[in-house]
Amino acid sequence: MRCSTAIRSRLTMSAGVRRNPLSHILKVLTGTCRNSAHDGCDDHRRFEELLKQGEETTERAAKRRRQLLDMLTREVNEHELMEEQVLYPALEPRAQAREIVLEGYEEHHVADVTTNELRDVTPDDERWAAKFKVLKESLEHHIKEEERNMFRTARAVLSRDELSELGARMKALKAESRR
Ligand SMILES: [Fe+2]
Ligand SMILES: [Fe+2]
Repeated sequence: MRCSTAIRSRLTMSAGVRRNPLSHILKVLTGTCRNSAHDGCDDHRRFEELLKQGEETTERAAKRRRQLLDMLTREVNEHELMEEQVLYPALEPRAQAREIVLEGYEEHHVADVTTNELRDVTPDDERWAAKFKVLKESLEHHIKEEERNMFRTARAVLSRDELSELGARMKALKAESRR
């Protein structure tokens, strides 16, 4: 999600760096929260759950499909904003991380386009499930790439202090974007 300059500057200015080394994002970045489906500390697990729920709906569950798409869109947008404002810019200048970061931007773009297109498909249309499945597969692929490649690279090229600062900034930005 490429946000507007105005929103970006407002969020960046107001997102003060707070030292909270156990923020959920830091846990992910430092590998202490990987594959933890039950402690609620990782946005990725939440997306997987919403995607699974959406895939299990039928054309009769129009209201539920709208609710799930709304939740998923809002939460994925917040998550993309954190990554694109804080994590990706910190990694992009590092040669080892550049390719995976550029790929990440493109995968966010694909997710945004697909969620936007889904809004134009009525939930009782058979194309809804097909498009939602494409969204699910592309987001699952993106999550895997980040957890297996990007976060591992982040742990290799950034110090623990740098990771701690990134985690705190991402958490502050998320809190700000929810106000
Ligand atoms: Fe991402
Ligand atoms: Fe992510």
